[in-house]
Amino acid sequence: MEPVSVKAIMRGPRGVLFLKNPRNELELPGGRPNQGESLESALTREVQEECGLSITSATYMGSQSSEVVPGKRVLLVFYACKFGLNSLVISDEHTAYEWVDINGERPHNMPSFYWDFCVTSNDRSSPSTAIGAAPPDYPLLTGEADKERLMITAEVYNTATIRFLQQYLPTTGRILEVGCGHGQIAQWLATNRPESAVIGLDNDQEQIALARSSASARGISNLAFELGDLNDLAHIARQASTFELITCRFTLLHIGQRAAAIRALLDLLTPSGTLVIEEPSLTSLFCVPHVASFEQANAAIRAYGEIKGVDYDCIEDIWSIVTKMNVRVKDARFSQPTVWKRDHKKLVGLSFHQLSPQLVAHGILTADQAKSIEQSLDDEYMNDLVISGGLRTLQIAMSRKRTA
Ligand SMILES: C[S@@+](CC[C@H](N)C(=O)[O-])C[C@H]1O[C@@H](n2cnc3c(N)ncnc32)[C@H](O)[C@@H]1O
Repeated sequence: MEPVSVKAIMRGPRGVLFLKNPRNELELPGGRPNQGESLESALTREVQEECGLSITSATYMGSQSSEVVPGKRVLLVFYACKFGLNSLVISDEHTAYEWVDINGERPHNMPSFYWDFCVTSNDRSSPSTAIGAAPPDYPLLTGEADKERLMITAEVYNTATIRFLQQYLPTTGRILEVGCGHGQIAQWLATNRPESAVIGLDNDQEQIALARSSASARGISNLAFELGDLNDLAHIARQASTFELITCRFTLLHIGQRAAAIRALLDLLTPSGTLVIEEPSLTSLFCVPHVASFEQANAAIRAYGEIKGVDYDCIEDIWSIVTKMNVRVKDARFSQPTVWKRDHKKLVGLSFHQLSPQLVAHGILTADQAKSIEQSLDDEYMNDLVISGGLRTLQIAMSRKRTA
């Protein structure tokens, strides 16, 4: 009889979890049962050992004899697994992990037997659990509760964003900002292009309400805010209009189906239109001199992002998506502000304060650890002798390639 190996199909908002083995192949978490061990116990143990995640339920999906290495067949037994929200940490057995979008294309280094099984089981899943179907929850506060944080974000990041964006401002035509938050960039676009109609789109009612009241207080008349989702731009498309400029900042990191979202945005452009995106990398944050709590806070937020489907380091993914698309990249730049003013440094503490109850609830930090990080961010990090590098962002301007 062939040896048996149990395999976990673990679906997150960005796809199915795969681990990269030393042969550089992507494989599902799992492994062989020990003597006397049930398949379910083996699955739980292997997943815990290989990626630090606890399985909360496992549903048998089927089995399949596969030639895992040339000349060696193994009976793979697949389970669709739900898992707890602790952080994903891989063991020495693997070199990396990836959430693979099963609705996309098979990665070159994934054996077809894994791919075929995941695709088939995805078709069999109910719509609510289909891979990538559920957009990740937005983890931060919105509306008034997030006003101060987004105001500081604008102060720290808008200079570089606007410097990049202004090269692509159309003289006429419509402009769309997606994931507009409280609408600071949309306001800048509308006031700098009074001849253009500007739309700000966000999927959160409170963000839209605040954006509307702030724009109306300033009497900006060529700007409208609409409730809408980047994962479903059909209603914007139905308005039968296309845009000369579409922009999106710090929003694609929250999107599971990023390639599809970028494609949908490109489809809304006029033939001469430009799509400008800007997304961050949290790994780029640093402090001079070193402040331990600053790094601990960022590591905890990144771990939380992993389990919630928020990719705080989406630069590489976005670049890879864009360069595989049929687009003309007009410009690409990295940008990283220095955060040194006291008022700006508050941004780190405000972000951490918002997330810390969830970091504790999900077991990423203990309550004591979270409290001590909060105190140090309010104290040690706020010392005037400490400066820090903000998020490094990747800015890309692109247009659709003309078809002959
Ligand atoms: C970090 S904020 C960035 C706001 C603004 N673009 C900026 O740079 O200051 C992300 C925004 O994206 C919105 N958002 C998240 N997911 C979205 C989706 N699927 N469709 C539309 N907006 C979304 C959130 O409500 C939030 O306002």
